[in-house]
Amino acid sequence: MALAFDDIALLFARHDSTQYSGEPVTQTEHALQTAWFAEQSGAHEQLITAALLHDLGHLLHDQVDTPTARGIDDLHQFSVLPFLRGLFGERVLDAIRWHVDAKRYLCATRAHYQAALSADSQRSLALQGGVFSPAQAQAFIARPHAEEAVRLRLWDDQAKIKALPTPGLDHYLAIAARCRLGHMRPQP
Ligand SMILES: [Fe+2]
Ligand SMILES: [Fe+2]
Repeated sequence: MALAFDDIALLFARHDSTQYSGEPVTQTEHALQTAWFAEQSGAHEQLITAALLHDLGHLLHDQVDTPTARGIDDLHQFSVLPFLRGLFGERVLDAIRWHVDAKRYLCATRAHYQAALSADSQRSLALQGGVFSPAQAQAFIARPHAEEAVRLRLWDDQAKIKALPTPGLDHYLAIAARCRLGHMRPQP
């Protein structure tokens, strides 16, 4: 079930031209742009790694269409976790795990956030459980690394820009390699 680190590059290579359906970018461009926004924001390397890998679950399951258009929530934020568990620690995994709930949190707590979401994100919101109630939002943000998932989510939402130049996959895989369990230096 676990992935080897080199499998990550293979998955991106296999889906290099797979469109992020409903958006003007490929899955790989979306991953690179999310990681690039994280890097530009001065995020630590574990959060940049989570940004790069947050939608890897879509690629694992060859989800090339738009499941939400068929009324399906693919739960990609959870299904990828067993594959990454042997490679990365909880800080990386939690930011990935909570990036969908972070959208539900932001809809509940930030004015105009929901209206600015892309059509696909709006459609998936209902399937993913809808906007959090105030009590749900409070409980969410108290979870470990939930605030980092919220930061990731805001980069995720931006990372749909056609032809935005970013560093390549090798640059971000080198960052991810430094975050592997057993390879990490302490980070703030
Ligand atoms: Fe996602
Ligand atoms: Fe995403």
